[in-house]
Amino acid sequence: MTDLDTLPRTRLPALLRAMPKAELHIHIEGSLEPELIFELARRNGVALAYPSVEALRAAYAFSDLQSFLDIYYAGASVLRNEDDFFDMAMAYFRRAAADHVVHAELFFDPQTHTDRGVPIASVIRGLARACAAAERDLGVSGRLILCFLRHLSEEAAFATLEAALPHREHFIGVGLDSSERGHPPEKFARVFARCRELGLHRVAHAGEEGPPAYVWSALDVLKVERIDHGVRSVEDPALMRRLADERVPLTVCPLSNVKLCVFDALSKHNLGALLDAGLCATVNSDDPAYFGGYLNQNFVETFEALPALGARHAYQLARNSFEASFAAPAQKAAWIDRLDASFKTALAAAD
Ligand code: ADE
Ligand code: ZN
Repeated sequence: MTDLDTLPRTRLPALLRAMPKAELHIHIEGSLEPELIFELARRNGVALAYPSVEALRAAYAFSDLQSFLDIYYAGASVLRNEDDFFDMAMAYFRRAAADHVVHAELFFDPQTHTDRGVPIASVIRGLARACAAAERDLGVSGRLILCFLRHLSEEAAFATLEAALPHREHFIGVGLDSSERGHPPEKFARVFARCRELGLHRVAHAGEEGPPAYVWSALDVLKVERIDHGVRSVEDPALMRRLADERVPLTVCPLSNVKLCVFDALSKHNLGALLDAGLCATVNSDDPAYFGGYLNQNFVETFEALPALGARHAYQLARNSFEASFAAPAQKAAWIDRLDASFKTALAAAD
C-alpha cells in the first residue's frame, strides 16, 4: 500500500466502515441491548430492577470496571434457555455483518449462568448454533472462547472446564475476565496449564485496570497468545519492547476504556502510541450494548478523536485483526487479500 497517506480525511469514516475486519474482544453477554433484556425478562418471567428500557439505559454511567460488572451480571440474569443464547448471539452477528466484520471470536462467561442453575449445555449449544447460522446466513465466521471469572476461585474455573469439555468441539480457547484488581493471572496458573495441555488457545484480560505486572504474568505464567486490553503496558518500556518483539496482539477497546474511566477522553487514548511502538494492536467493542457502540462506532469515533490516526493506521488495524485471530493461515491470507482489494477500491474512488 503506497498512497494511503493521500486519502482525504473526509473519506476516512467511510473507509473505516467498509473495510473488512475481525472482532477479537466481544463479550457476548455485553451485546445484550436493553430492548432484548426486557423481551427476555418477559419471555422468562424474570423481574427486573428497572421499570423501562429508558430507565435501564440511563443507569449505564460507570465509574470503573466493577460498577459496570455489577449491572452487566444483573442484565445477564434474563438468559435462561438455549434459544435466549441463540437470539442474543444472532443479534450481535447481524450488527457485526453490517459493520463488515467477517470473523468474530466471542467471549462467553459460563459461570454467570451456571451459578444461576442454567445448564452449561444450554449456553454452549445456543451460542454454537448461532455461530453456524451466522456463517451460513450472514457470511460471518464465529468462534467461541470460554472465559473464567477471575473473582471466583481456580477450583471453580476447573469445575467449569470439566463441565465444558463434553462440548469441546464448540470452543477454540479460554480467557480470563471480570474484576481485574486483586485477582492476578497467577491465581489461574494451574487451570491455564491444563487448557494448554488440552490444545486450547489462551487469552487473558490484563493491564485494563491492573498494572503492567499482570501483563507479564499473563504472558509468562498463563502463556497467553493475546492480551485483552493491555493499554497500561505503556507504563513499562521493557514490556512494550517485548510485546513489539514477539508481536503479542493487544485487543484494545477504546469506547470501553472511556466509559470505564481508564482514559478521561477518547482524545487521550494511547492507541496511536501502541501502533507507533510497533505493537499488534487491534480495535474491538468489548461490551457494545453498554459502552456506546459496536465495532464501526469504535473505529469512527476513535479516528475522529485522534487526528494522528489516518488511512495507514486503519489498514494496519484491520490487518492486525486478521493476523491476531486464531484462524488458519490460508484463511488469514484470504481475508488480507479482501482487505487489500477494499483499500484499492477506496483509493481509486478518491482519485
Ligand atoms: N467482562 C465483560 N467486560 C469486561 C471487561 N471490560 N473487563 C473485564 N471483564 C469483563
Ligand atoms: Zn473485555
